[in-house]
Amino acid sequence: MLHAVLVAPLFQANTLRYVRALCDIPGVTPSVITQDSVDRLPDDLQRNLARCVRVGNCMDTPQLIKACKQLATDIGPVDRLIGALEQLQVPLAEARDACDIYGMRTQTAINFRDKDRMKTVLREAGVPCARHRLIESDTDALDFIQTIGLPIILKPTDGLGSRGTFRIRNDDDLKAALKALRPSLERPLQAEEFVTGKENTFETVTIDGVPQWHSGTHYLPGPLEVLENPWMQYCVLLPREENLPEFTAFTDTNTRALTALGMQTGLSHMEWFLREDGSACVSEVGARPPGVHIMPMMSYVNDADFVRLWLRLMTLGQWPKLQRHCAAGVACLRGQGRGGRVKAVHGLQQAQEEVGRYVVDRAIPRVGQPKADGYEGEGFAIVVAEDTATVKQALKRLVSLVRIELG
Ligand SMILES: Nc1ncnc2c1ncn2[C@@H]1O[C@H](COP(=O)(O)OP(=O)(O)O)[C@@H](O)[C@H]1O
Ligand SMILES: [Mg+2]
Repeated sequence: MLHAVLVAPLFQANTLRYVRALCDIPGVTPSVITQDSVDRLPDDLQRNLARCVRVGNCMDTPQLIKACKQLATDIGPVDRLIGALEQLQVPLAEARDACDIYGMRTQTAINFRDKDRMKTVLREAGVPCARHRLIESDTDALDFIQTIGLPIILKPTDGLGSRGTFRIRNDDDLKAALKALRPSLERPLQAEEFVTGKENTFETVTIDGVPQWHSGTHYLPGPLEVLENPWMQYCVLLPREENLPEFTAFTDTNTRALTALGMQTGLSHMEWFLREDGSACVSEVGARPPGVHIMPMMSYVNDADFVRLWLRLMTLGQWPKLQRHCAAGVACLRGQGRGGRVKAVHGLQQAQEEVGRYVVDRAIPRVGQPKADGYEGEGFAIVVAEDTATVKQALKRLVSLVRIELG
């Protein structure tokens, strides 16, 4: 039996799906490391898990190492140590290094996690991506602007969810960003040349360094534009067509990027730009399952459960043949106006009448619910239809009709 340990910080509904999927893999002895209370695990999972170890903080490498050692003593050597969250990737790799566990090691995990190192590795490998520099002081930022010109992007080197990302168009933007981000030797920033183009994703399954499967989505529009316009509702579209020219043309760049960064076995989530002249430019890659509802969308269009598939991939190193039979999209519904709570949700009835038949999953914000802190929004609706055009139209109607009023 293969002893596989999943790090599941909190037992939220989505995380429990990962735990349940791990328990269901034949030939795998499942354990969990968590910072949540074991009592919050549903009965069937308490029964099926070999062990659940509680730690104070799952992101803390020494605590992960201690938990792995305890699991090795109690249950048997740990063969796999896995977790889906972006912030877990380096601690997991450090614990694999310390306990000699199969899987991505620290140097590779940092290639994916540190935006400066990622771009350095990619540029050295000749993969197209933005020119960049590590910014340790205000002077560094000015120097970079002198070399590159405006606009530029400033962001934390270990950012996520677009938090702390600034587009710098002029002196005032620069002043505001430097004041907010305060670059220093200890906490340097990532500065990048500003890339213009349509932003897409590219999800890839790699086994032993060889890409096995891929799928891409369109961001409508890109995260920065969404971040800069708090009133803007946005969508992610997963087209039905498996061989759209822009994605097919990007396959080679994607593979070169993943190879340069050291991807061995896993599901990766690439973000990339398609420039107006048709050329591609890599933005960033996570060595983990994608967010913004792309996992459920991939599940719908391929008629498969991607949480289960990912856990089989990470434990048994297997991936099935898949075929897309429809298109999917998500409309992210964001509160508009001032105020910290949802005051009203408008347009639901008409949206239901017009496009309700395509909606397969949704979270409608409750009146009184606090304003979301990230840019993902207060609610969402996932739509599925046989063809891409119908999904696109349904998304368009959803973001025009549904309005969440904050107050
Ligand atoms: N060099 C760049 N040029 C243009 N837009 C960028 C650039 N870097 C980041 N962005 C925008 O900011 C968003 C967040 O940046 P990203 O590097 O993806 O950080 P995060 O890890 O927070 O997702 C991107 O999705 C993109 O819209
Ligand atoms: Mg990103």
